[in-house]
Amino acid sequence: MNYRWSTVPFVLRDAIESDIGHVRTASPLEWMRSVPMVAVLRTRTHRAVVVKAAPESHISGAEYLRREAVAAPRVAELATQMLGTYQVGGWVANITAFHRARFVNLSPESPDLPRVARALDAARRTHYGSPLPSLSDRWSDVLSADDRHLLRGQFLLHTNLHPTNLSIYSALSVPRVHIVGWGRAVLGPRWAEFTLFYRQLRRAGHTPSGAVAWLHQFPEWRTAALPERVTALARAMQLGASRHDHDIWAELVSPPAR
Ligand SMILES: Nc1ncnc2c1ncn2[C@@H]1O[C@H](COP(=O)(O)OP(=O)(O)O)[C@@H](O)[C@H]1O
Ligand SMILES: [Mg+2]
Repeated sequence: MNYRWSTVPFVLRDAIESDIGHVRTASPLEWMRSVPMVAVLRTRTHRAVVVKAAPESHISGAEYLRREAVAAPRVAELATQMLGTYQVGGWVANITAFHRARFVNLSPESPDLPRVARALDAARRTHYGSPLPSLSDRWSDVLSADDRHLLRGQFLLHTNLHPTNLSIYSALSVPRVHIVGWGRAVLGPRWAEFTLFYRQLRRAGHTPSGAVAWLHQFPEWRTAALPERVTALARAMQLGASRHDHDIWAELVSPPAR
């Protein structure tokens, strides 16, 4: 079930309005799938904000918002600015600064690619021990202990760098990529973010060798994405994947060494 701003419990609206002022308009935002309530709020006194909210009973939505609240401030130079987090009246909510932006184009000749590379490289450097689950926890029941070990790491990974999570913010003289959608962030090894990005490059029309060549610009990919590590992650990603994605991940599975 989805909610509108007007149907959110009064105590939560009141808490948010005490920070940003009386909400004059609440307009829906497209592209939102993870949480059941999202809107752009406008007031007389505060800049426009995006509110995302979920009742605690919406397990995945509430978890998404908690993780976003942990992760986004730790990558502040990349993420949209987190202005407030709330846990009121049985609901969880985050508000972030609203940016008018367009999604990146990841196709092979796109001028956005170098900008995306800069953002990925910055994300590579921002790593902190944070209270987030581990990448390998996603498959705790199904992966072998050895494979789980290969996926261990202490770096903050976004894990879902779909183009709708990569916005070009062009109000600046040098257009910059903002990364949104931090609700699936986990801790893991740095090379995993690049490996996961392979799928986005393939979906955007890169050939398998073209996608690997693009990833080669990142030192972390060149030095740490060893075949057995990439294979462990690609195999894990195949579990429950669509047919199309399953085939993309198969391209990264190396034959066993003889
Ligand atoms: N602060 C923001 N300013 C402008 N647009 C935003 C902002 N936050 C999210 N969005 C838009 O909402 C969409 C969905 O948000 P996101 O956090 O990625 O959730 P989901 O996991 O459901 O995709 C994004 O793709 C982006 O277009
Ligand atoms: Mg998203």
